[in-house]
Formats: sequence, C-alpha cells, structure tokens
Amino acid sequence: MTIVSHEDPSVLMLKQKADFVQTAWVQNLTERALCYLQAGYPVHFSGPAGTGKTTLAMHVAAQLNRPVVMIHVDDEFCSSDLVGDHLGYRSTRVVDNFIHSVVKTEENVSKTWVDHRLTTACKFGLTMIYDEFNRSRAEANNVLLSILEERLLDLPANRVSEGYMNVHPTFSAIFTSNPEEYAGVHKTQDALLDRMITINVGDYDRETEIGIAAAKSGLSLDDAGRIVDIVRDFRELGVHQHPPTVRACIMIAKVTALRGARVDVDDPDFRETCRDVLRIDTIKITRDGRSVGADRLNEILARNCGTSDWTAPLVCNGNGTTNGAGAHYHGN
Ligand SMILES: Nc1ncnc2c1ncn2[C@@H]1O[C@H](COP(=O)(O)OP(=O)(O)OP(=O)(O)O)[C@@H](O)[C@H]1O
Ligand SMILES: [Mg+2]
Repeated sequence: MTIVSHEDPSVLMLKQKADFVQTAWVQNLTERALCYLQAGYPVHFSGPAGTGKTTLAMHVAAQLNRPVVMIHVDDEFCSSDLVGDHLGYRSTRVVDNFIHSVVKTEENVSKTWVDHRLTTACKFGLTMIYDEFNRSRAEANNVLLSILEERLLDLPANRVSEGYMNVHPTFSAIFTSNPEEYAGVHKTQDALLDRMITINVGDYDRETEIGIAAAKSGLSLDDAGRIVDIVRDFRELGVHQHPPTVRACIMIAKVTALRGARVDVDDPDFRETCRDVLRIDTIKITRDGRSVGADRLNEILARNCGTSDWTAPLVCNGNGTTNGAGAHYHGN
C-alpha cells in the first residue's frame, strides 16, 4: 500500500501499490468486507500470522476512498492512547496598563486536550484500521463499545468541551487480530466481538500465493509456482508449531532472484535458502538419528524442482557446506 501524505501526520491516504495481487480469493474477501462496512458494521480480519490481514485491511480501506488512521497497540496501551489526553497546560497572561500608574495582570492556566487517532476518526468520519487490536488489554477498548453500537464517543468528562461526541456517519472501522494462543495476545471481550463481523482468514490459495511471490520478486510465474509448492508441501507436514506462510514464499523468491540462483534442487544456493527460510534446523523431530525436517525438505525439493533420481546431500552445516553423505531419493 502506498501512503500519500496528508496535512495531519497521523492521517494517511492509501493508494493501491503496483505489486498488490488481486485474485478471485482476494476479491472475495474484499467484497465481503466492503459489503459489511457498507451495511454499517465493523469488519474484523482474524487469523494466524502472515495470512494477509493487514494488507487486506489496508486494501479495503483504500477502496473506501476516505483518509485512514492506523492504530498499533501493545500491552501498555490504554483508553487515553485511543481517545486523547491532556498534554500539558496552556498559560495566558494579560497585562493591563491602561492607566499608567496602575498595572493589572490576569493569568489563566488551562489544560490542553489533544485528540488521538480514534477521536480524530470519529470526528471527521475517517476509516480506522485497528491492527492486531487484541495485543492491548480488553479494558483499553471499552470506549469502542458505544462507538460501534450507539455511534457515540464518550470522552473524559474533564475534556475542554462536551463529554459526548456523535460519531461522523462515514466513520468505519476495520480490525485485525491474531489467534488468542499467540504470545502477547489477550482474550477479546465478547461484547466487542459481538459488535463486528469477523472474517476468518487462513493461508491464501495457491494462485494468490504464486501471484504474490512473483510480484514481490520479479521471478516468473513458473518459478514462483515451484517455490509456492515447496512451501505448501512443507506446511502440510505439520512439523512446525507455526507453519511457513506466504512470507516464506516471498522470502525464498526474493532471495533466489537476488542471488541469481535457479529454482532447482541442484542449485546449492537455492537449497540453502529454502533450509534457512523454512527453519529446518529448528525442527527437533529425528528418526534414526536424522532430522526429519531435512529429509522431508529434500524429498519436497526433489518432487517440485528436481529430477526423479536426484541425490540429496544429507547434512548442511552452518557455513553451507555438506558432509558429503548422500540421501538417495527416488521420486515418482
Ligand atoms: N494481495 C496481496 N498482494 C501482494 N502482497 C500481499 C497480498 N496479501 C499479502 N501480501 C504480502 O504478504 C505478506 C503478509 O501479509 P500481511 O503482513 O498483511 O499478513 P498479516 O496477516 O497481517 O500478518 P501478521 O499477523 O504477522 O501481522 C506481506 O509481505 C504482504 O505484503
Ligand atoms: Mg499484520
């Protein structure tokens, strides 16, 4: 997503980037989200890391053609970070010297309120992308309940002006979240989830992953296709707690293009890149003293970009050299 500058630095204008891949899969997710937003409901893309949630949220927001505020949070995030806060004091001093022999001074000290992104979005009808919102604690998001249901922003009572603000009719909200079992993620309150429509996103389909790997690396669709098939086969093995996502496809494709390597099992640079990106060395499962991950990867490489009688080097140590042992793979 390209960001076009806006006079308020906390507000973005999003424009679709040239390497954004639009397939039937992406289109379906986009159209569903736009339809729900049009009906007045917030949309929530929920799913594991690397499944395209943030990219989709930004793509959908760009379609709405309104300025966007993005909110990123952490465990320390609280309601005032969303809404606004009193940041310092403003002091005014009037010196009245109308009668020369008499000097009257009057001093006024008032708190200065600064709107934060949620308030700005509600006031001007912007689109809010609240990325990975469940990284903040549930109570930080209480203020959203009345915004999403009654379209009323309940501001702290001691704010300079009134305590309530009507939410602008064009305000829309797009949320993303990671699964609750992820590190650093909090359980979301049911009342908030109940106010939004959740679209569960998983890994993209093959066509979309190929399109993305090709668009990001400049490799041909054929080469990108072989890389995506390797990653997808590896994903299916279920040997990693967090299986490789489309990011792994992009990484292998980009590095392969940069190294000038061939998408071929015989190319040592390509094999090495796959081993590193797919984090083969972190797989602790062994069979007969040999790493299952390395063996399976060799099989997958041979199947997707090798010859049927390819002989795989078994062990690759840190500096990329092999111990010369051979695993004789005879594919179909
Ligand atoms: N339609 C698309 N076209 C081009 N690239 C895409 C598309 N969808 C996703 N990507 C790319 O895939 C990668 C993962 O996408 P993204 O960062 O949106 O995933 P995510 O689900 O938000 O991950 P996380 O939970 O880790 O934040 C990014 O490099 C992104 O640029
Ligand atoms: Mg994301």
